[in-house]
Amino acid sequence: SRSVAREDDGELAVAGHRVGALAAQFGTPLFVLDVADFKARCRDFVTAFAGADVFYAGKAFLSKAVVRWVAECGLHLDVCTGGELAVALAADFPPERLGLHGNNKSVAELGRALDVGVGRIVVDSFDEIDRLTALARERGVRPRVLVRTTCGVEAHTHEFIATAHEDQKFGLSLSGGAALAAALRIIDDGVLDLVGLHSHIGSQIFDTAGFEVAARRILGLAAQVRDARGVDLPELDLGGGFGIAYTSQDDPASPKELADRMRAIVADECRARALPEPRLSIEPGRALIGPAMLTLYEVGTVKDVDGIRTYVSVDGGMSDNIRTALYGATYSATLASRRSAAGPLLARIVGKHCESGDIVVSDEFLPSDVRPGDLVAVPGTGAYGRSMASNYNHVPRAAVVAVEGDEARVIVRRETEDDLLRLDVG
Ligand code: LLP
Repeated sequence: SRSVAREDDGELAVAGHRVGALAAQFGTPLFVLDVADFKARCRDFVTAFAGADVFYAGKAFLSKAVVRWVAECGLHLDVCTGGELAVALAADFPPERLGLHGNNKSVAELGRALDVGVGRIVVDSFDEIDRLTALARERGVRPRVLVRTTCGVEAHTHEFIATAHEDQKFGLSLSGGAALAAALRIIDDGVLDLVGLHSHIGSQIFDTAGFEVAARRILGLAAQVRDARGVDLPELDLGGGFGIAYTSQDDPASPKELADRMRAIVADECRARALPEPRLSIEPGRALIGPAMLTLYEVGTVKDVDGIRTYVSVDGGMSDNIRTALYGATYSATLASRRSAAGPLLARIVGKHCESGDIVVSDEFLPSDVRPGDLVAVPGTGAYGRSMASNYNHVPRAAVVAVEGDEARVIVRRETEDDLLRLDVG
């Protein structure tokens, strides 16, 4: 976050809260969430995208406190399971500002969404359209839906390749005609209220060209719908996926740059196709919560392996951050509890799990006197860290502490052995 700084004695602090005190009070591993930073990122997106709707993608990290901050900052909220919907509702999020995603929503999830009145449902298959149509008929309601399209843009971390990335489980293909057929089926049935089209091209994307290609192609579909049925679709969702800086090499676009690019392309394409401009929406998760959190670990062992590399083992690992093992994600790390004048040591920061791929940070220079009891901080862990946490090896999942002003408050408590055993009824 923007407010991580060293105190005079070299100890790291988040929004003025020293990491040593946080670790002593709440234990490690610990996710530390800088509330002011998160809210500032939310507000930056809302301001930059004025006139559009910003949905926070709750899959990145969701808790009741986060839901309340998202509401307070004027965002909408995207949930993709009944569980995420339950958290949103438990925190009294206005249902009309909720969007529901998912490629395999169950009858129960769709039914609940209709019963509580979620603002929109992004439909992802013909089976779902049929299921939702039946449920809406039974209830006599007319839910607002968008069709999720796959538009052939394959987004990679630092590039995009416009190929047939329609070969995946999400969405309905533009080039194959499934997306058009879905839109026409919904219109012709007349039960669901088709308000727009949706595309999400991937995650951790830096190149805005992918969004531009996607926007142009989807507006092409909007024009086909108009030509076929005389219906103008009022909404266009370009999804999330905006990259954040995990290391100093990453250079993300600002919300303002993203908004300007998207608006310009949409306006241009609508002009070219004589379409009225739809209301735009986006669904960032990572860009809002990712930079607002860091993870604090305590070092347990330091092992030099034949002079090749030093393994610094910390008290968490792949159970609180699976991203390094799963995607080869790159993080940085820093000695957080003190200053050191020792020279640099090439370290691999690993966890405590029974798996050699249990790596948190593959390569990082730490001071060569790093030792048991030191605290190490890994920044940028807010997105897909705690939310993808597991209990592998029966390690209790880490707590999340929110710091704001003088207050440091647990918003998700640490699991205990009792929590782990509670589910074991055998
Ligand atoms: N909208 C839809 C339909 C999505 O599927 C996603 C992410 C988002 C929005 C938010 O994307 P974001 O702005 O956070 O990139 N576990 C992976 C990321 C999976 C993203 C899944 N969908 C990771 O840790 O990188």
